[in-house]
Amino acid sequence: MSNVDDIKNSGLAFTSWVASKQHHIESTLEQCLPDANLAPCMLHSAMRYSALKGGKRIRALLCYAAAELSTYEPNVADASACAIELIHAYSLVHDDMPCMDDDDMRRGKPSCHKQYDEATALLVGDALQSLAFEVLSQSQNYAHSQLSANQQMKLINLLSKAAGSKGMAGGQGIDLAAVGKDLSQSELETMHRMKTGALIEASIMLGAISAEKSSQEAIQQFANKIGLAFQVVDDILDVEANSKTLGKTAGKDAESNKPTYVSTLGLSAAKQHVQILYDQAIDAIRPLGDKANRLIELAGYIIQRNF
Ligand code: IPE
Ligand code: IPE
Ligand code: MG
Ligand code: MG
Ligand code: MG
Repeated sequence: MSNVDDIKNSGLAFTSWVASKQHHIESTLEQCLPDANLAPCMLHSAMRYSALKGGKRIRALLCYAAAELSTYEPNVADASACAIELIHAYSLVHDDMPCMDDDDMRRGKPSCHKQYDEATALLVGDALQSLAFEVLSQSQNYAHSQLSANQQMKLINLLSKAAGSKGMAGGQGIDLAAVGKDLSQSELETMHRMKTGALIEASIMLGAISAEKSSQEAIQQFANKIGLAFQVVDDILDVEANSKTLGKTAGKDAESNKPTYVSTLGLSAAKQHVQILYDQAIDAIRPLGDKANRLIELAGYIIQRNF
């Protein structure tokens, strides 16, 4: 087979892996979310509206890819991937509320507070966050795994830190306080690492919970670089893509006077920065060999994505 065929085939294999994992996480989420007919029906229906049928599921994909670095524990990977996507869905619901980014569209549909109402959106975020930790702490998910009690606690600890005031919620606080201000590149980096990088990093570290101790440093380094790159690309897409492709309002950062990598460095330097972060991420993980291939493919997808 020629080199070109090889590349085409590996591209196809990646695409079908992505599709099958996206399908799988959708049905896992579907099963763990309360039925829409269960009281309080509006809250449960709004939770399902916000967490199902949408999104690239990149955090779940990163978690599954990282789980391939070690003995794959299907129930543990599902619980972790599901918990992370629930936290992420909650962060989006709150991010769109009028008191935050005031965005009417998410994942190609009206935002949760538009479809329902603000109070419901607030509760959806609260309840999705609790559900994430309920899923992650469910003992049956560990019944057939080799994971020690300490490792199980570590999963919960990693995710709670990533979601909290030193991670996503803290980054969102910085984001709101930064409206109309010029941030230095280092301040911007801190904000992006916290509001987005922390959860991306946690997705990978939860997936890699059983990976050898000697690989953890390399995985962490990869996760840290690609987590930041993810938000820099989000800043770029806000300028370059249209609302239909994005499934959310394009041009929102400039309209809301938010400092971003594009407003601070300019479009071309922001793109160069993404390339540098990608190269650093790949350099960090390359020594782990073929078992890191999925993560490398996902890193490529993250920097080349168009929504
Ligand atoms: C959007 O995340 C919010 C950010 C943290 C930049 P995604 O681009 O992963 O959104 P979905 O899950 O695919 O909708
Ligand atoms: C959101 O950043 C980060 C979150 C924690 C949700 P943005 O505000 O840029 O995300 P989008 O562009 O609305 O998806
Ligand atoms: Mg925001
Ligand atoms: Mg937003
Ligand atoms: Mg954005």
